[in-house]
Amino acid sequence: MTDVQKLKDELVSMVEAANDLTSLDTARVNALGKKGKITGLMRTLGGMDPEERKTTGAALNLLKDEIAALIAGQERALKKQVLEQRLATEQMDVSLPIRPQAKGKIHPISQTMEELVTIFASMGFEVAEGPDIEDDWHNFTALNFPVGHPAREMQDTFFLPDDEEAEEGYKKKVLRTHTSAVQVRYMLENKPPIKIISMGRVYRHDYDLTHTPMFHQVEALVIGKDIHMGHLKGCVQDFTQAFFGIKDLPVRFRPSFFPFTEPSAEIDIGCSRKDGGLKIGAGDDWLEIGGSGMVHPNVLTNCGIDPDEYQGFAFGFGIDRMAMLKYGIPDLRTFFDSDVRWLNHYGFDPLDRPNTATGQPAK
Ligand code: DAH
Repeated sequence: MTDVQKLKDELVSMVEAANDLTSLDTARVNALGKKGKITGLMRTLGGMDPEERKTTGAALNLLKDEIAALIAGQERALKKQVLEQRLATEQMDVSLPIRPQAKGKIHPISQTMEELVTIFASMGFEVAEGPDIEDDWHNFTALNFPVGHPAREMQDTFFLPDDEEAEEGYKKKVLRTHTSAVQVRYMLENKPPIKIISMGRVYRHDYDLTHTPMFHQVEALVIGKDIHMGHLKGCVQDFTQAFFGIKDLPVRFRPSFFPFTEPSAEIDIGCSRKDGGLKIGAGDDWLEIGGSGMVHPNVLTNCGIDPDEYQGFAFGFGIDRMAMLKYGIPDLRTFFDSDVRWLNHYGFDPLDRPNTATGQPAK
């Protein structure tokens, strides 16, 4: 028997013995690979005399084709076998219900913020931002809180260690107690007319059913020439009606005190309380939702604006409280519990964008 014939017998039995795709691949490498048996025999051709080289070369080429065809046939057979095995063992029950899709929800605070931006933007306001870690000057001094004045403690401030690297006068750090600090930053950097809202986290050490150490505020600031309290009233009225979606929602201003406004007023909206339930709208009761006033001349001066030339109004609301009232959420603390069942109940569909005309979630 020639070497070629011997090799053929050897390779054929090797390929036929391969009973799965992995061993078939090993057989392919052994037979046809660069270091395989056929290639090895091809290398000996150089040492043969011309006649022998011719016949052996042709025989080896033929063998190569035969083995390749054998492997391809074997591969088809094995793949068919694998498929048949899967078809026999794997079954799909088409009557099973589909798996529920994991679905995210928008937190009521995020939803409410979207609504606020939508409404205020439609009234011509821009959104301004400031840092959560604020310095004592922007949070208090510039807003006309005298040094040592009890109003600084009135806000249950979280004081932070001094920042020695900060510029002189800005070393004392606090977690901002209100978004009013953003008014200061904006006025220092922009000339009137000004019409902005700022929103975000604020911090005070307080914790019960209606207070959490971190909560959210929205602040509005309008500065221009001949701005008066009538503008403040109209603006708050338009905003609250759009936000709660209640036409002619009663709004009341009660005299109050804030260091940064003069005169100052607390804002109440109409409601009725019956059988322990609260209903926003015309009724025989009032509910406080925020503070407001005409920007104090000292604040304007501290922020580089001439109070003889410009006046302005400002107001601030707690966003969380607004969301609780609008969406009937009873306990503020649950907002920050990260309980997915709560979020599934009170959260909003991501596609439920607020309607630009009403600020209400789209239906
Ligand atoms: N900054 C006040 C607070 O946190 C709320 C407030 C009152 C904001 C009157 C204002 C304002 O802009 O004019 O309690």
